[in-house]
Amino acid sequence: MPLNIVVGITGGIAAYKAVGVVRALVLEGHDVHVVATDAALRFVGRPTLEAISRNPVHTELYEGVAQVRHVAIGQAADLIVVAPATANTLAKLAAGLADDLLGNTILASTAPLVLAPAMHTEMWQNPATRANVDTLRSRGVHFVGPASGQLTGSDTGPGRMAEPDDIVRAALSVVRRDLAGRRILVTAGGTREPLDPVRFIGNRSSGRQGVALALAAAARGAEVTLLAANLEIEPPHGVRVLHVSTTLELRDAAREAAPHADVVIMAAAVADYRPASIAHGKIKKETQGDELELRLLRNPDILSELSHDRPDGQLVIGFAAETEQDEQALLELGRAKIARKGSDYLVVNRVGWSEGFGTQRNAVTVLDQAGSIVMEASGTKSSVADRILDLLS
Ligand code: CTP
Repeated sequence: MPLNIVVGITGGIAAYKAVGVVRALVLEGHDVHVVATDAALRFVGRPTLEAISRNPVHTELYEGVAQVRHVAIGQAADLIVVAPATANTLAKLAAGLADDLLGNTILASTAPLVLAPAMHTEMWQNPATRANVDTLRSRGVHFVGPASGQLTGSDTGPGRMAEPDDIVRAALSVVRRDLAGRRILVTAGGTREPLDPVRFIGNRSSGRQGVALALAAAARGAEVTLLAANLEIEPPHGVRVLHVSTTLELRDAAREAAPHADVVIMAAAVADYRPASIAHGKIKKETQGDELELRLLRNPDILSELSHDRPDGQLVIGFAAETEQDEQALLELGRAKIARKGSDYLVVNRVGWSEGFGTQRNAVTVLDQAGSIVMEASGTKSSVADRILDLLS
């Protein structure tokens, strides 16, 4: 359903990236009204914003007084997104100031408010800003970012505005509760198989894509359980997290949780083999000599088991991490894999020394049981997560 969305733009360098936010919302079919501060228009031109939003850009409090514009825009909005939100804007919003059109619009609106802060690290970490963020959060205001990375100058750190597609996903998920009441089980990370008390056989999965799926599903109203196998990143808030390490632990936890789920998403990278025996003490070179042979046993295939034993109506989504470079050959591997595993969908992604693992971005192709491509997505792992979840609704 098209929404009436106000995009507030305030005066920071990141205002140029707000154009991407407006464009993405328009391309998704929403009616977008830009309210820019005077400072914002020093960074990005009105004609650009009008062309991209396909609507006039509002800045002046004393224009359109006959239509009571200072409250009308806010009253009509289904959602307000402010990107970038400067430190000054956060302070003004926390204090409830209405000395410009954007301040009035926000005060006059009951629509959900999503802020994408952008500022230098020192400003973001300043106790005044921290207090303003806490105040706004306590009133139910949503924040997306800031991300950590290269800032306008040569400095790096937290303060960089979130990427446009992340802002769009986060903002739309605030008003989209299309997964409310669904119970979703997500596995993330990579299993580790111990050799001795200090060593293991593992893989390079960071868990980012699985965590992004868990977060996106929770934001859309789902009740999420995350089985987390050795995540490289912080487990998310707002979802039930159970930590596991080995494939057999993941299998036990998954078999216990799966019967209660409407949807199972196996994003974890699972070790196919485990050492036949685990040494009680550290394996020593003196006893092993120049060669060490490991005997490995095949692990059960959790995805196949869950697919075959699933309750009626449950949807199962598997992942396939492949190193094949040729696109067609990659898809053929995916088709063979989904036929073998029996899941409803298979999310195929290419991984390699520099692709897939540990990165913020991903590119996937989703196959259905018949091996047909049902969706292709690329972008940040959170935008890919949302596209995958769109398959459920
Ligand atoms: N998977 C699983 N149990 C295993 C191995 C994999 O549940 N023992 C799941 C993964 O979570 C993923 C899917 O199966 O959803 C595919 O994993 P992948 O590592 O790509 O495939 P493999 O089964 O390991 O097949 P291959 O070794 O031939 O690539």
